[in-house]
Amino acid sequence: MTDQEFLGTLELFEQLHILDHYRSLSSHHKRSFLDANRDLDLHLAFQLYRKFCGANPGAVDPAMISPPDIICVPKGAPQNTDASAVLATGEALLRQQKVAVLIVAGGQGSRLGFEGPKGTFPLSPVRGKTLFQLLSEQVRALSTRYRVPIPLLIMTSTDNHQDTVGFFRQNGFFGLGPDAVHFFPQGVLPAVSPDGRLIMKDNIHLYTSPDGHGGSLKALWDSGLLFKMIDSGYEELFYCQVDNPLVRIADPLFLGHHRQALSQVSTKVVRRRSIEEKVGVYLKLNGKDAIAEYSDLDERYMSALDDGGEILYWAGNTAIHIFSLSFIRELNKNGFALPYHCAKKSAYIVSSDWEPATIDVCKFETFVFDALPFAQKTCCMEVTREDEFAPVKNKEGNDSPDTARAALTALHRRWLTRAGIDVPEGTRLEISPLYALGPEDVIKKQKGKKLTKPAINGDVYLE
Ligand code: UTP
Repeated sequence: MTDQEFLGTLELFEQLHILDHYRSLSSHHKRSFLDANRDLDLHLAFQLYRKFCGANPGAVDPAMISPPDIICVPKGAPQNTDASAVLATGEALLRQQKVAVLIVAGGQGSRLGFEGPKGTFPLSPVRGKTLFQLLSEQVRALSTRYRVPIPLLIMTSTDNHQDTVGFFRQNGFFGLGPDAVHFFPQGVLPAVSPDGRLIMKDNIHLYTSPDGHGGSLKALWDSGLLFKMIDSGYEELFYCQVDNPLVRIADPLFLGHHRQALSQVSTKVVRRRSIEEKVGVYLKLNGKDAIAEYSDLDERYMSALDDGGEILYWAGNTAIHIFSLSFIRELNKNGFALPYHCAKKSAYIVSSDWEPATIDVCKFETFVFDALPFAQKTCCMEVTREDEFAPVKNKEGNDSPDTARAALTALHRRWLTRAGIDVPEGTRLEISPLYALGPEDVIKKQKGKKLTKPAINGDVYLE
């Protein structure tokens, strides 16, 4: 957009306070203002503002809902022959260098309230490893195990991009090598005040917010990484969020189910804890697999029980997916047109009298799971929450660093118990991904041994 078109658009949407601000700037700052904001999509932001004013247009029509097909955690003894064939399929994909990994690490992490990218949050119980280190070490361990490079793609936000890249550099890319890690920033959209006014973040910049994790699919295309992966022979993209330290990256069993179902988008789900839990729900909408945000679902559906008194729509979204790369390429044909959602959140700005201030804004985001209904084939797999899902969302209470640390400790304690090793309750405990990716590895390495001195100040650390 030219400077004049941009100023004309501000006038069109009656953003006279921004135009007044612009006119009050020195000519040097006017230039900076135009350069910083000219390419923002104001038309889209105001179109969305009008759409979301008032009613919730995302609300799901109850008549369209039906239960989905889900591969459940086996209740009795596992069907070993089936499971091992599925596992072999997944392992073959890894071995044949068909799998890349995407971690979305943009967003604003406003609930956690941590200075710096969420991925740099120190989380592990003994060593204080950051989320980035825990996840990167899993990729490194897989790469060693299957003797292949596994590209790690990291989506950043424009605000945390430099810090994220710098953090990986300072830490030697956690042993992955600079060529194996690819960073790309997500898009942004202007946020709007509840009464429809654009907001200045500071003297020069309009307040913008990241366009949601759904932006990752388009950003992969825009960055050229999608084609780089496809051209290098990769076929499947394991997707997860940076804030779940329990995620089993590129889980071969999950990959195997995905491939055997010829799925384009696969999802791991956990049983909802209670009808009150605020989590997206996996279901069928109009006959197609979909995930509905809890806020878009009628209370009757969120709390419906089956004949046995269990939650009827029990499958909670973990945000762990596999996308086939060819499916993402197909999405370009509709311009990656995922629906937008509006979130009312707090924003930190510098007010006109140069004081830091917190104000309410409407932010517009797309969600990656809204790609599901575009897929012809999908696959959904239940996993045990305690083994795979403990997101870090809030500073305290539910889904906080404390609950995630406790979940990681409990998981590693169960691994050691399976290897016949009991660690006294209350001992701080951590197993490095470089030592074990699952209980089988611990059993192989520790069986019959006494746990000898891996301790740091009485804590147990296995590396
Ligand atoms: P959340 O939806 O929990 O958002 O993101 P958030 O930004 O981390 O935290 P709040 O809501 O401001 O408190 C889930 C995951 O998706 C990524 C985040 O990095 C996190 O891993 N994400 C979210 C993005 O990459 N981009 C976004 O625009 C939003």
